[in-house]
Order: sequence, then C-alpha cells, then structure tokens
Amino acid sequence: MMITMEGVVLKLPPSLRIIKPNPNRTNRTFRTATFASASAPAPLSTDPQLANTHENLIFVQELNGKRIVYLDNAATSQKPAAVLNALQEYYETYNSNVHRGIHYLREIVFTRNATEAINLVAYSWGLSNLKKGDEVVLTVAEHHSAIVPWQFVAQKTGAVLKFVSLTEDEVPDVEKLREILSSQTKLIVVHHVSNVLGLSDGKNEPGQTPSLLFLQASVLPIDQIVSWAHDVGAKVLVDACQSVPHMVVDVKSLDADFLVASSHKMCGPTGVGFLYGKSELLSAMPPFLGGGEMISDVYLDHSTFAEPPSSWNFYHLRFVPPRINKQIKVAFGDQKFVENQDGKRFEAGTPAIGEAIGLGAAVDYLSGIGMQKIHDYEVELANYLYDRLCSVPNVRVYGPPPSRTVNRAALCSFNVEDVHPTDLATFLDQQHSIAIRSGHHCAQPLHRYLGVNASARASLYFYNTKEDVDEFIRALNDTISFFASFK
Ligand SMILES: Cc1ncc(COP(=O)(O)O)c(C=O)c1O
Repeated sequence: MMITMEGVVLKLPPSLRIIKPNPNRTNRTFRTATFASASAPAPLSTDPQLANTHENLIFVQELNGKRIVYLDNAATSQKPAAVLNALQEYYETYNSNVHRGIHYLREIVFTRNATEAINLVAYSWGLSNLKKGDEVVLTVAEHHSAIVPWQFVAQKTGAVLKFVSLTEDEVPDVEKLREILSSQTKLIVVHHVSNVLGLSDGKNEPGQTPSLLFLQASVLPIDQIVSWAHDVGAKVLVDACQSVPHMVVDVKSLDADFLVASSHKMCGPTGVGFLYGKSELLSAMPPFLGGGEMISDVYLDHSTFAEPPSSWNFYHLRFVPPRINKQIKVAFGDQKFVENQDGKRFEAGTPAIGEAIGLGAAVDYLSGIGMQKIHDYEVELANYLYDRLCSVPNVRVYGPPPSRTVNRAALCSFNVEDVHPTDLATFLDQQHSIAIRSGHHCAQPLHRYLGVNASARASLYFYNTKEDVDEFIRALNDTISFFASFK
C-alpha cells in the first residue's frame, strides 16, 4: 500500500491491508496549523502557558477535513516549530563540523538513541566489569533495548541474567528484586516508567517519604533500588526513555549510575539520544567505538584516547581550563571557540550535530513549559484515559489502576476480547484517523508473561487533550461494534 503526501511516498507494510481502505480516504493533507485554527478541542488544562505551547505545534494533519488524533507518543513525539526552526537555522546559517562553539555537558555522552546508549554501557562497562557467575538483575517488563545487549554480554562473559516478575497488580515485584540481590549482583537494569504497563511515579503525601509510598504501592522506587544496589556493590542503569519526556528527572537525587533517554520521544529529532554516566565510571570505561574525535594520539601500532565527559572538563565557550592542551582556537564569527577532543571518548566520528542542536531546542522548549507542569497535566489526562478505557465493555487494560499512591503514565496498553489489536489499530486509523499502536511494543517477554502476543496502546503527550481521549473512546466503541457485527 502506498500513501502519497506532498511528493513523499510511504510504503506501508502489507499487514495494513487487513481492512479495505476507506474510499473517501484519498488525500492526506499535511499543513502547518495551530490547534486553535484546526477545529481542535481546547486543552484539558486551562493554564494559558500550556495552552500557548499548542499553538506552535505543526503536527496538525487533516484527512479529508478531519483532524488526525495522534496517540502514539510513547513510540515518538511530534516536533514543535521551535525544534524544526532550530534545525533549519543550523543547516541554513551556521552548518559546520563540531568543536566549534559546542560546550561539553557534564557526564553526558551523545549517542544515536537510548538503544545505542545501553549498548555503550554493555560493551564498554559490561565487557570489562562482568565475569562468569556475576549477576545482572532486570525485570520482565524491560524494553528489548534494555534486554538484548545484556544477553550479548552474558554470552561473552558467562554472567547470568536474572529477571524479576510482576506482582498481582502487574507491577515489577520490587520486594523480590531486593531479595535476589547479593554480592554476586553487579548491575540492575530497570525502566523508570514502563512503555506498556503505564506505571509512573508514586504520589508524595505529607508525612511520608516518596520511597515508603512507592513501596506500599509496589511501584518501582528507583532511588530505593539504587540504594539497595549500592549496598551490595552493584551499579544501576535506568532506562528513562518514558520518564525524561514527561517529568522532572534528577539523576543526582536518584543517584543512578547510568541513565539513558532518546531525543525523539521528547519533541526532539531522531538520530540522537544520550547516556548519563557518573564521572568516575565513565573515566574507567574503555572506548566503545574507535575512530576520529575519540582519540588523543594515534600511532601506527596503538592509540591513546580522549577523556570522557566529566565534571573537570565541563566548560562553556570562552572559559577554557589552562590544563587542557592541544587546543586550537578557531575564530568563528565574532566569537572565539576552542577545539579539542577532551570529553569525546565515547563519541567516535562526526556526531549528529544538527540533531543535537534540535535536541537542545526541544529541551529549551519543554523547560519553557516546565516539566512539573507537563507531569501534572499528564497525570490528569492519564487518569481520564484509564477511566474512559475501563468503561468500554470487554476491554482489558494492563498495569495497575491509578490510586491514592500510584500515578499512571499517560498511556494504556489494552486488548479487546476477540479482536486482534492490529485489526483494532488499523480500523481506528483507516476509519477514524486515530493513530494508536499495536504489537508487542518491543516488550515480548512482558507480553508473554501477561499471556498475550500483542496489545494495542494509546499513549498521550502534553499536547493531547481530554477531547482527544473522548474521540478515541467513541471510535473504539464503533470499532468494537464493527467487529462484533461479524460474529
Ligand atoms: C522504555 C523504552 N526503552 C528503550 C526504548 C528504545 O528507544 P530508542 O529506540 O529510541 O533507542 C524505548 C522506545 O520505545 C522505550 O520505550
């Protein structure tokens, strides 16, 4: 199947042919528009600052005059104009290679995505720190990106992977995790927010610490897990792909050793993600990929390598610590910048410069709204989505209900009795212009654990509204009736 849109041809997988295309669905038009001008509903929040952010989004697409409701944000977010403008400005006005005016971020390594960041830790830290009999503890709810690299490392080193299952409430069993920790445990790999179960954070109530609340609610208490891990001498890698775009994440207060996320899920471009690593760990780790940029000196028979990014080489533009040598001052416009390789040990070759600039613009954009504001808004939206979905007959939503102590993330994975999730998603897309996702969401072990091959998933972001949820639920009811008519 092919869909043409303004000269771009998208080839869709044959599985999308399950339902005959709607004959009216001929022209998919994409246009720059504001929510306000595209008959979009008012945002759930009446906060003027949040409402204003919607006006910069250009993802309003129309299909025969009908707005597409985009509910696949856990897969990738839409991009605000501020990000697209930053990319365009870079390529049009100051395109050049790196080391000119880019400052190093403390303990941050830019990667292609979160997957590459986890592979970096696996191949660099894992291969040099794990040996036969060492244990890596994970949960069955991890994304494939957080499982497969450790399978490679286990095969090479003889380390053992131990998986923690779920409680009856369908949250990873934190008590079990605590019980299996021992002096053999060298690493814990955990997600911060699940991309399937929709677990978010615990609510803090007066007189109780968040950790205790987390425990009562059996929700992943990252700070507590980190403290248990450190007690037995293990490190913790947090997969924060689904938390960084949606809430305040403070690596220092979590005390995580490694943390990864992807730009494209947080309004930024694809092709760039990052690894946060504690300075002392990064400096002891060997390079992951070899090549330009990551070296100090190259000889015919060996090379020496650049420092990793760390607190000592954090500097901004004109401030250059005198002990950094091999600097080349480059005149660039009316600014003076410094070229050197320090901080680049894990960034071989020309990096994704434009994409990193786009990520910077996305970070500015989200910070401008305020991560706490985004989180609070999404909690409200998440509860609404959960309640509305549970009100649809024969729907099974995975993960715990929102409660006094548990916040749900603004996503729901679900199944409808006797309807395949791909049929659901296809019908919703073709007939109602509602974009959700179906499949295993890169979490096959979790789906097997839940006793299903696949699920449908609706995932929201701060630019979605209560009315988007209403449209989705209306369309879902219609879809279920359609399939029931064949029985
Ligand atoms: C929880 C989680 N971890 C890891 C990933 C991998 O992200 P990426 O494909 O951008 O590397 C995803 C993406 O869906 C995710 O949701």
